[in-house]
Amino acid sequence: MDIATSRSHLRPSTQSESALLTSADKPFLTDIETLRKRARQHINQGPVTGGYKGDVAVVVKLLNEALATEIICTLRYRRHYFMVKGIRAESVAPEFLAHAKEEQEHADRIAERIVQLGGEPDFSPDGLATRSHAEYVEGRSLGDMIKEDLVAERIAIESYLEMIAYLQSRDPTTRRLLEEILANEEEHANDLNSLLEGMQAI
Ligand SMILES: [Fe+2]
Ligand SMILES: [Fe+2]
Repeated sequence: MDIATSRSHLRPSTQSESALLTSADKPFLTDIETLRKRARQHINQGPVTGGYKGDVAVVVKLLNEALATEIICTLRYRRHYFMVKGIRAESVAPEFLAHAKEEQEHADRIAERIVQLGGEPDFSPDGLATRSHAEYVEGRSLGDMIKEDLVAERIAIESYLEMIAYLQSRDPTTRRLLEEILANEEEHANDLNSLLEGMQAI
């Protein structure tokens, strides 16, 4: 799915605002009895409590798109790892492999969060490339591979930024997860930029 289409999922939801009390005597916390009662209701929803301010269906959909993006990035980096040749292969191949492993970890953490939210992680190969924000581009030369990886990282960075902005206080746990992944994607983009600069300096 392209970025323009994916943005259509990022509209603010019409969920009710904070479930927390805001009266002067209890400015932040809901009383203990109400909290306990709410926690016992809908216990089959796991960590999704009455205090959850997000729209679970929307968040799961966003996370499944992020999962597809991470799987595509894993596959692309692995392809590049095995295909890289030439005098720079020895220094670049380990970088591609390290990125592939980290993208896989991102995918796993996202899948885990989807399950926590009561959703199902979509690992289906059908439509995988369409669900992904980033593309699977093989690239012929080493320069092409690095450029395509950098483009994909920049797409991932932009889509994570949008998801984080949407999640804010709606789902702080998912937001924090995506912030950690985002920081890692920025490192990847930085690594690729350095590789590209190194190549241009030759
Ligand atoms: Fe990633
Ligand atoms: Fe990355």
